[in-house]
Formats: sequence, C-alpha cells, structure tokens
Amino acid sequence: MRISVIGCGYLGAVHAACMAKLGHDVVGVDVDAAKVALLASAQAPFFEPGLPELLAEVTETGRLEFGTDVAAVAGARVHFVCVGTPQKRGENAADLRYVDAAVEALLPHLAPGDVVVGKSTVPVGTAERVAARVAEVQPGAVVVWNPEFLREGFAVQDTLHPDRIVYGLPEGPDGAEARAVLDEVYATPLADGTPQVITDYATAQLVKVAANSFLATKISFINAMAELCEATGADVTQLADAIGHDARIGRRFLNAGLGFGGGCLPKDIRAFMARAGELGADQALSFLREVDSINMRRRVRMVDLAREVCDGSIVGRKVAVLGAAFKPNSDDVRDSPALSVAAQMGLQGAHVVVTDPEAVQNAQRQWPDLRYAASAEEAAAGADVVLLATEWDEYRQLDPVAFGEVVAGKRVVDGRNVLDPGKWRAAGWVYRALGRP
Ligand code: UGA
Repeated sequence: MRISVIGCGYLGAVHAACMAKLGHDVVGVDVDAAKVALLASAQAPFFEPGLPELLAEVTETGRLEFGTDVAAVAGARVHFVCVGTPQKRGENAADLRYVDAAVEALLPHLAPGDVVVGKSTVPVGTAERVAARVAEVQPGAVVVWNPEFLREGFAVQDTLHPDRIVYGLPEGPDGAEARAVLDEVYATPLADGTPQVITDYATAQLVKVAANSFLATKISFINAMAELCEATGADVTQLADAIGHDARIGRRFLNAGLGFGGGCLPKDIRAFMARAGELGADQALSFLREVDSINMRRRVRMVDLAREVCDGSIVGRKVAVLGAAFKPNSDDVRDSPALSVAAQMGLQGAHVVVTDPEAVQNAQRQWPDLRYAASAEEAAAGADVVLLATEWDEYRQLDPVAFGEVVAGKRVVDGRNVLDPGKWRAAGWVYRALGRP
C-alpha cells in the first residue's frame, strides 16, 4: 500500500518508519526542512530508542522517503495526519492550526477512494469538521479517526505491537470500505491478535483523551497519597506496592514523585477540560483540575524539600539537577518537571547545574539561563545538594560512596523514589524523597 504521513515529529516519524517496516511504501512530509533532511538520510531528529536502527533498515529497502513538498502525497491511498496539537498560548484549549493546515495542504492531492486518517490527539468534534471539509473538496475520499497511544521511549515497539487499534468511522459503505483499507495497512498487527475497536468519530476521539486522563489521574492519585504519607510519616512506595497487588488497581503508573510532564498528558487534560466546557459538560471533568493541581504542587514540594535539607535557604547554594527530559529514554523537555524545578531554584537564588544523558541540547534551547554539565559527576562537583529529577538508569545506579566524593555536601532529594534510602544514608547522605519518611 502506498501511504503518506503528514507531520514527522515524535509520532509521525516513528509511524512512517513503522509503516515501511510493515511492508508499505511510505512518504513522510514535514514543513521543517532540517528535520526532513535528517530523516531522508536515515537519521532520527530526536532521541528514540530503536528508531535509528529502524530508519537505517527501512531506508535501505527504498520503501521510505521524506520531503517538504506535500505534492509527494499524490498517489498514496492512505494519508496519516500526525501533526502536533499543542496547548494554545494563554489558554487551556488545543491549538488546531497544524491539523487544519495539514488537511488544507492535503486537499488538492486527494483522489476518490483515498482515506485520510487522523492520528493527532484532538478535541472531540475535530474529526467531524475535517470530514466535512474533505467532503467539500473531494467527496470520494473518506476520513477515519485512528488515535495513537505510543509512549515516547517505547514508540517503535508501541507502533509495531499496539495494545489496541481504534477506528472511528463514518456510517455506511464509505466507512466499511475505509475500514477494509486500514485493515490492510494494519494487517500484520491484526494478524498478531491486536484487539480492534470499531466505533464512531466521537468515541474514537474521546478514547484517546480518556486514556491520557486516566493515566494522569492515576499518577496524581498516588502523588496525593504521597502528600498524606508526608503528613503521617508513611512510605508511598510501599503503599503503591501494596495497593498495586490488587489486580483491579495494578502497580503500573503508580510511581509517586515529581509527577507527569511531556508534550501529552498535561496539555491533553487541559484541552479536554476546555472542550468539555464548550460542550456544557465541564462539571464532569472538574476533577481533572485537581489532578493538574496535585501534579503542579509536586514541583513546588521538591523545591521546598531541597530548601529544607539546605537548612532553610537555597540562596547561593550549589544545586545539581540530575535529569532534564520529562522522563527517561527521551530527549523531550516539553513541560519537563525536572526543568521546572531547576528553573524555580535558579529564580530563587540557587546556582543550578543541570545534566541529562540526552536532553541537554533541547534544555539549553528552552532554558538558556541555566548551566549545564555533561555528566552527573560534573554537575555534582562541589554541590551542596543533588536533586534526582528524571530516573535515567545511570542515575538509579549511582554509587553513593563514590558520588559522595565529588559533592560539597552529601544531601540528596530523590524526586522519583528510585534510590535505596538505606544505601545512601549508610554512605553518609541526608536522603529525602517525595512521600517517604
Ligand atoms: C503518554 C501516554 O502514556 C501514551 O499512551 C500516549 O500515547 C502519549 O502520552 C500521547 O498522548 O502521545 P508519554 O507522554 O510518552 O505517553 O509518557 P508517559 O510514559 O505516559 O509518562 C508521562 C509522564 O508521567 C512522565 O513525566 C512520567 O515521568 C510520569 N509518570 C509516569 C509518573 O510520574 N509516574 C508514573 O508512575 C508513570
């Protein structure tokens, strides 16, 4: 099948490469010439485990091309819209300008029988609007909403082996035909037994934001418990283990700490609340406001903990922040809790040095005023306090004895609850964490 992918960011670049891996002929299009140049030479424009190898493999087959000219999509049967839907400036709602621009760019190149597949996370109602616009210009083309659930860091695996495949289809023969075309695109994962949910536009769009809202709620739930643990001297990691044994609850996504960030969960729950307001259903999602507040409070609490271990003041103190990415195995710093803490501490008078195995360059672009180091040891040299903000493996495995040699004061705040308090205390460190005694 000949396929086009519009938008080659974290979602689109991985999707394009994976579609080629599944045997399709793929053209990826993006307005960013630098990104396209990298992808065209089989290089990943961002850090994503497994993507460089996959790009090299499929580029070699000749089944994957990239370009900036949208005219290259002509002749493809299926067009995946994978552009971003960031939060609007000064508002909670999603900014749909990239989705609208992608659809408008696509329109002149659509042929009867083409299938336009929305993968971007959008406010419910967008698919209906896109379908109406496509029908105006090319009534023979069909729009399907096919949300994407990939996680950064596991994007290749999640795309090739998804948990489920959801189609939001129009009613009637058009919908049935589009379904058959998409079933061909996803023939391999479907043959592997991937569960499929066939539904309408509204449900398909809601599935995505409901899933991310649930995940955000689960994280904020355990972080609310962490606040209670702090008030009572209990240990949130043991609490999470104990409740996680109940299969109805499950242990995954119950890691308390600095909370969620990234380009998805924070903006998705806000856009969902904004859309619910427009639909007159804002009461149904008022709990998400609390989910957001709990999450943001954790960042403030981390700064407070650092101040506590520094005997009440961080002014003039040297602070090492381990981690800049919003989570490990990513170089994405969008709404990163780690950088939010680092910036707050800098603004409050601390001398902050940030390090990260992959995200320093991106962090530097976003927060040029912070100082950066190439390694944990370099960042921590002479530090009064060390903050673990993103749980990269190499930080989890730090040896508290050797690491104690480089700092000026052995104080550590574990923002992700991944260090062994016993080991660190035995090595002479003052150990504090979010939600642990
Ligand atoms: C999230 C969803 O997990 C994906 O299913 C979805 O497709 C994606 O958003 C999207 O909408 O595109 P992602 O943003 O890559 O994926 O990251 P997650 O793994 O969900 O982590 C989000 C944040 O939650 C990170 O900052 C992480 O550190 C934090 N987190 C996660 C916790 O604080 N505790 C946990 O137990 C788990």
